[in-house]
Amino acid sequence: MCGIVGYIGSRDAFPILIKGLKRLEYRGYDSAGVALLSESNHLNVYKVKGKVSGLEESVQKEDISGTIGIAHTRWATHGEPSKINAHPHVSASGKLALIHNGIIENYNVLKERLQQKGYSFTSSTDTEVLVQLIDYMKESGKLDLLTAVRLALREVVGAYALAIIDYTNPDEVIVARKSSPLVIGIGENEFFIASDATPIVEYTDKVVYLEDEDIAILKRGEPLKVIDFSNEELNLEVQTIELNLGQLEKGGYPHFMLKEIFEQPDCLRDCMRGRLRVEENEVILSAVMDHKDKLLEAKRIIIVACGTSWHAALIGRQLIEHYCRIPVQVEYASEFRYSNPVVGGGDIVISISQSGETADTLAAVELARQRGAFIYGICNAVGSSIPRNTHTGSYIHVGPEIGVASTKAFTGQVTVLAMLALTLAKVKGTVKPEELQEILKEFETIPEKMKKALETNEQIASLSKTFTYASNFIYLGRGYNYPVALEGALKLKEISYIHAEGYPAAEMKHGPIALIDTEMPVVVIATHNSLYEKLLSNVQEIKARKGKVIALVSEGDETISKIADYCIELPKTVEALDPLITTIPLQLMAYHIAVCKGKDVDQPRNLAKSVTVE
Ligand code: F6R
Repeated sequence: MCGIVGYIGSRDAFPILIKGLKRLEYRGYDSAGVALLSESNHLNVYKVKGKVSGLEESVQKEDISGTIGIAHTRWATHGEPSKINAHPHVSASGKLALIHNGIIENYNVLKERLQQKGYSFTSSTDTEVLVQLIDYMKESGKLDLLTAVRLALREVVGAYALAIIDYTNPDEVIVARKSSPLVIGIGENEFFIASDATPIVEYTDKVVYLEDEDIAILKRGEPLKVIDFSNEELNLEVQTIELNLGQLEKGGYPHFMLKEIFEQPDCLRDCMRGRLRVEENEVILSAVMDHKDKLLEAKRIIIVACGTSWHAALIGRQLIEHYCRIPVQVEYASEFRYSNPVVGGGDIVISISQSGETADTLAAVELARQRGAFIYGICNAVGSSIPRNTHTGSYIHVGPEIGVASTKAFTGQVTVLAMLALTLAKVKGTVKPEELQEILKEFETIPEKMKKALETNEQIASLSKTFTYASNFIYLGRGYNYPVALEGALKLKEISYIHAEGYPAAEMKHGPIALIDTEMPVVVIATHNSLYEKLLSNVQEIKARKGKVIALVSEGDETISKIADYCIELPKTVEALDPLITTIPLQLMAYHIAVCKGKDVDQPRNLAKSVTVE
């Protein structure tokens, strides 16, 4: 994963780089480093194990001058998190410093070759091999940096977004990408480099997204130039981005995660805007309308995704099957890509990803595309790799999600999936006008109902204190709320480090019920829907074994609320949209338990927001 930032221009590079790294820390935060070419033309490299704030503190007495520099925040792949393994890595000649996001798969072969040429290595990273390879090409062939990078990358197998500087040429940064994201911001006589646009928006809205195997030359006083591996100059597509700085700040909340949970009603309004037309009794997702013939022909739909996006996919399956009567298969992208899947022309593959950069999801998309499937992307990060590698798609428009645990992206994904199902169902004639009108009217009220659900925040904050003792949790749901149970369990695991399992409630008696004792908290999603009576029996089974039941019920519930130990009342909605409401208290509960336990909510251990390695 990792976040990379770079700057060349006339301003002091260091503050720009540090601010940029902080915006990218969601990508990894186990070590950080910076390389600057100082005013006196020295290559100064500073690194720390730990977060960017530690890096900032550690350089207080150092020379941080310079108007050209590169910086990195790491999520370890090769080599443990440590100062030595942190980037930038410096070449044996002492001239080059390089930062890299990705994995060099043939690093062992390259390393052995370089060792035979007399190179030695101090870190256990694949990145150090890359910088030494470029150094070797440059020094042995007496090449300029650009040519050395170009020739070196021809020998590299793997993924990279990299930036490299050379202290013998303080007017140039070379960057390149393959399968890892890289954006270049174009200012007035200055350039910015970053893994995504968030570190750049403050300075310019003009950006270029590099494509695979692009190499860019950022030179003072010259326009941006991009070439391919055979040194052919490529046309640039300069885009204007619409990210607002306020969206990237915490806005008075103690954590991004809490801010993002509370933003959901507004986010969903943004997501539905212009698409939901209740009076006309229609939903218009333009991508569905533009490709309706292809979608109508579909014999089946396969949805590929990872993590939370995979949970949204499970809800999507129920929505599409119910409203469109098309069979839907949901696959973990990481399994799909290696399963020699039966997929091809006539199949629609929907890929769901918040970041648009998840390596496994991208690979699954690529495989399905090569085999002739039509690919529809559902994504949040505008301009990221998934939207650029799919035939069509819809953005969820919930704004940047910074907290590592996904919250508003999940409800945004479910909202888009519901709109997709309803758009297609209307075109296909598989939904009756009255049924469509009922759900659309209800859809419109969801943001307000979410606000009501958010009013449970204080109740949940106090209830959460009771459960910090727990080392296990079970989450149960059925139908549309079974994926919500999975998602609730995932949220708790990732930020509080409590083991949690999501389960379909009726499956309990086939095994997991053996786990129930007086210590075991069981969260049951038991809002009023067609399976309510069944859930009542499930709750009774748990109570009979003295489990502690925390029930999510609909307002006015008089049955389960009497049996459960704790009850959280939520506004009623139609079954298909219930996940948009029931998810909220589970997000809040995970958040408050983690806060009570003193955990780092926005940057939980071992995780990163954008999983750009497989
Ligand atoms: C969980 C979480 C992850 C992501 C997963 C996929 O809170 O954030 O499970 O959902 O890594 O990421 P995207 O959606 O960016 O492809």
